[in-house]
Amino acid sequence: IGTKESSSYYNGKHILVTAGPTRESIDPVRFFTNHSSGKMGYAIAETAAKLGASVTLISGPSNLGVPNGVSRMEVESARDMYHEVFRHYDKADIIIKAAAVADYRPKETFDQKMKKQEGSLVIELERTEDILKALGEKKQKHQYLVGFAAETSNVIQYGREKLERKNLDAIVVNDVSQENAGFSADTNEAAFISKTGKQQKLSLNSKVKIAQQLFSLIEEDLKGGEQ
Ligand code: CTP
Ligand code: CA
Repeated sequence: IGTKESSSYYNGKHILVTAGPTRESIDPVRFFTNHSSGKMGYAIAETAAKLGASVTLISGPSNLGVPNGVSRMEVESARDMYHEVFRHYDKADIIIKAAAVADYRPKETFDQKMKKQEGSLVIELERTEDILKALGEKKQKHQYLVGFAAETSNVIQYGREKLERKNLDAIVVNDVSQENAGFSADTNEAAFISKTGKQQKLSLNSKVKIAQQLFSLIEEDLKGGEQ
């Protein structure tokens, strides 16, 4: 009692975080992916654990180590992430989806390595599950769902549309056309938009600082809702 941790609003809360890219296999040796490093999601998980929360981090392939006090589950594809997230969903109070999930995967995955042929190659892609949208559809009263969005134009407008469409409580929108924001940078610059109408700029800062600001905003938003 009286320590920073035990007096934290987040003490004892279950927080589920996703991070990193996904990997969509073409054959045993090849895959589609994106440039996500996982840094933002890992910074969120690390910060949540420091605030006393019980944290589950579901991570796509990333080189980062497991943050102190965090339980990490490793996944590869969007489909794997979908199943792992739903395995942990019911007990989660706050869900933060920082992962950069692939929107498409090869329609067919080959069991054997594809051999090169003359001429060009066409690989048909199909849509992956939209994990965040599915979470929004199954969200329960006690749950607070936060999405991320990467945009290169109309950042706030597109962010608001995603917030609505996916039934989120809040969204963090990144302008990935900015130099010091986005995938592999140690820093980020973003905007927090909540369903309750709060809009707050998260100015250029380390990803850990951004994570700390994010938790203050979520706490404010949740406390506002209790009144
Ligand atoms: N997301 C997800 N499952 C997907 C695609 C995205 O859960 N198959 C989540 C991401 O983790 C993120 C949010 O949805 O929290 C927004 O991702 P983003 O790529 O910005 O939006 P999309 O809805 O995929 O739309 P688009 O890429 O066309 O802008
Ligand atoms: Ca996308």
